[in-house]
Amino acid sequence: MGDLKIHIDEAILKLLKNPPSDFISGEEISRQLKVTRTAVWKRINHLRKMGYEIEGETHSGYRLIRSPDLLIPSEVKPDLKTQWMGKSIHHFFEIDSTNSKAYQLAMEGAEEGEVVVAESQSQGRGRLGREWFSPPYLNLYLSIILRPKIPPHQASLMTLMAAVATAEAIYSFSGLKPSIKWPNDLLLGEKKVAGLLNEIHSEADRIHFIILGIGVNLNMEVRMFPKEIRAKATSLKIERGEEVSRKEFLQILLQTLESWYSIFFKKGASAILDAWRGWANLQGRLVKITSFGDTLVGKAIDIDSDGALILETKNGERKRILAGDVEYFRG
Ligand code: BTN
Repeated sequence: MGDLKIHIDEAILKLLKNPPSDFISGEEISRQLKVTRTAVWKRINHLRKMGYEIEGETHSGYRLIRSPDLLIPSEVKPDLKTQWMGKSIHHFFEIDSTNSKAYQLAMEGAEEGEVVVAESQSQGRGRLGREWFSPPYLNLYLSIILRPKIPPHQASLMTLMAAVATAEAIYSFSGLKPSIKWPNDLLLGEKKVAGLLNEIHSEADRIHFIILGIGVNLNMEVRMFPKEIRAKATSLKIERGEEVSRKEFLQILLQTLESWYSIFFKKGASAILDAWRGWANLQGRLVKITSFGDTLVGKAIDIDSDGALILETKNGERKRILAGDVEYFRG
């Protein structure tokens, strides 16, 4: 039943956005959608509650004045310029975590390119068991199901690919140039604007699926961040000084991801690694890494194709770091 209502809502919105004249009558909608006029009236009221501004006149019918910036399929899909990514969007007003939902859907057979998006998350998850702050209607909480035919040891290239695509999407959407901080945080200046949490389901020689989880702070204001992260986090609104369209950002991000995914298959790992190095500017920098309670200081040499950071310590020893947090030293 829920699905049917959503289907009717989407069909009504389509008619309201594309009416033969300015107004479309309740009778015409009911005739085209083969539902009763009472049903149309109920769904129009529901759409109004969701934030759609719909003018209604007894004689002429309904007219759409303004749409809310919601990430529902009927808003996102019409101008989405992808071939396959995001053609199926699972939208939730609230969910525990889009990654958990996408994982469940993938286990149940969801196809490559299906996405899960939510207006808010009650248990948004970050890296290293941390929480991802996910208040409603402000940001982007997105998870994408991928089923790449690559061996499991190449899975981290997908994470690097997603970081590159997110950086590029932020840049082309806002004109603000982010940097990637190892392993896959996106910063504007020194503050974090986006993070990635990718999860893989595989067996020894085969990946069943990868969930690309991406959180981008879009319309948060400084005072909205919890105190503990306020000094370290930012959003596109804070940096640009104006509200941004979440819907347009999502469309650009999906398009950019789709194109980097195909670059990976056409040009191979080196294309991804080179792009990642360009956004990260990591090589040769002095860093402090906290990894599982240990602190290491040294010079960042590079990343390898597993996404591990190669660190050269003071005594010239090279270490491969697989997980942790990086701090840069100035200069
Ligand atoms: C990090 O930087 O710690 C990673 C943050 C990842 C957050 C996103 S929001 C959408 C998806 N669902 C989650 O529960 N987490 C990721």
